[in-house]
Amino acid sequence: MLTRIAVLVSGSGTNLQALMDAQAAGRIPNGEIALVLSNRKAAYALERARQAGIERAVLSKYMEPDPDKYDAALLRILTECRIDMLALAGFLGILGPRVLAAYENRIVNIHPALIPSFCGLGYYGLRVHEAALARGVKVTGATAHLVNGEVDGGPILLQKAVEVKPDDTPETLQRRVMEEAEWEILPRAVRMISDQIAKERNN
Ligand code: GAR
Repeated sequence: MLTRIAVLVSGSGTNLQALMDAQAAGRIPNGEIALVLSNRKAAYALERARQAGIERAVLSKYMEPDPDKYDAALLRILTECRIDMLALAGFLGILGPRVLAAYENRIVNIHPALIPSFCGLGYYGLRVHEAALARGVKVTGATAHLVNGEVDGGPILLQKAVEVKPDDTPETLQRRVMEEAEWEILPRAVRMISDQIAKERNN
């Protein structure tokens, strides 16, 4: 039996694409993407999932403004889909205590910097790269980590460094970090956890 993976998204879904490509290439041998869930109805990631024939769901804070009810509704969807693990791929929502407890050590997030630099509340998307350029770092990168109750605070699984070039803009740096680091280490981290779950199941 394969580990059933839910990929949570909010945006364009290039990291989702990297996961779908990795699965197609046999690089996530014990896992399958069973659900793509977005907290934004307009996220292009949903279109990628549709084209790939993957089940989709939308749960936005407009649909469920109360954080406690959002947490319960999200857990209900994941349980109904028999999801074993989550991959946060550019998901800009905050997970609540129910989901965190149900999937302890089974939630992977990709962050576009070398944690503990440029992480925590307010550091997401382009803002991370704006902050890195403003500080003048010469090396940045990406981190795949497990998710706990602290923003970007869970145990680190994988990191990859990326060089900052003198003429970088936040946009060029974001793209290079995605290409050279995020799209490589997120699938590898998802493989690590899906292999682990498969191993536990077979014991
Ligand atoms: C990615 O760079 C991801 O690392 C970042 O948002 C982008 C989503 O792009 N996530 C965060 O900043 C989370 N703190 P995508 O939708 O094309 O994968």
